[in-house]
Amino acid sequence: MKKKLFITRKFPTHIVEPLQEYYEIEQWEEEEEVIPRDKLLSAVTDCEVLWVTIADQVDEELLSHAPILKLVTNLAVGFNNIDVKALRKRGIMATNTPGVLTNTTADLVFGLLLATARRIPESERYLREGKWKSWYPMQLVGKDVSGATIGIIGMGRIGQVVARRAKGFDMKILYNNRRRRHEAEEMYGFKYASLEELLKQSDFVVIMTPYNSDTVGLIGAEELALMKDDAVLINASRGGIIDEDALYHTLKNGKLWAAGLDVFEHEPIALDHPLLTLPNVVALPHIGSASLETRMAMFMLNVKALTAYGQDKAVSNRID
Ligand code: DGY
Repeated sequence: MKKKLFITRKFPTHIVEPLQEYYEIEQWEEEEEVIPRDKLLSAVTDCEVLWVTIADQVDEELLSHAPILKLVTNLAVGFNNIDVKALRKRGIMATNTPGVLTNTTADLVFGLLLATARRIPESERYLREGKWKSWYPMQLVGKDVSGATIGIIGMGRIGQVVARRAKGFDMKILYNNRRRRHEAEEMYGFKYASLEELLKQSDFVVIMTPYNSDTVGLIGAEELALMKDDAVLINASRGGIIDEDALYHTLKNGKLWAAGLDVFEHEPIALDHPLLTLPNVVALPHIGSASLETRMAMFMLNVKALTAYGQDKAVSNRID
């Protein structure tokens, strides 16, 4: 008898179809809409394998409805939507998509850096709104990325690639990480700094650290107060790492140049969120890894894990 796989979103048919060789597949038939929680809880009651996105919480409550669950596959590298400890307790495996989205996400971080520093979205709005009447010297002046100091919080795979991109812009590179990256320091000239020093010295602070109990609220009012008044804060990791209320007040009081945010504490961010009233906030709908090539590569890593499990072989990219 085939194992039962439940997929929480409508994924492309050509990705899902080959898995029918191993699985009896059911999926939520909506591409854009998250499966309602009650439907998800009833769908998992008889499934052995669950394929989720970051919008689905795999927690104690879900596990208590899933007595035969053995594998959870996450279409993301970040796995803060999964209670890994709870899975481990029940002997359930989980997999994610490391490696394949590193460059794409680092590219977007640079998009945010340039967009905030050079006020690109604001300038485009200015043009479209008919405000461009003449050229004048101080019109929409921004700040330079080239030669500035970038401080990267979280020097994992993506952080390191952001740093290498920054070298191309002749930036001075500071980083903070749980572990020192001696090899990268020597090879690329990155400099380790305490969080406090990094915040004080950087023109651009980029958050690339995973979201967990150590990093929730890592950047709050006190940390923001350490930053230069003309610094930029970029976050393409997870929203809860920044205290959004504190960020709003800091920006509103002119104590920061701008913020570039691809992630928010609650996604999608509410349209009446105070941050969205500020012209110097560049806000994106969590598109860090959203290139066609990378999305396909992410699907394929998940498919590889699902195929291996379907064939009773060792499953790769495990996070448990
Ligand atoms: C990830 O992979 O963690 C991204 O945030 C979602 O693709």
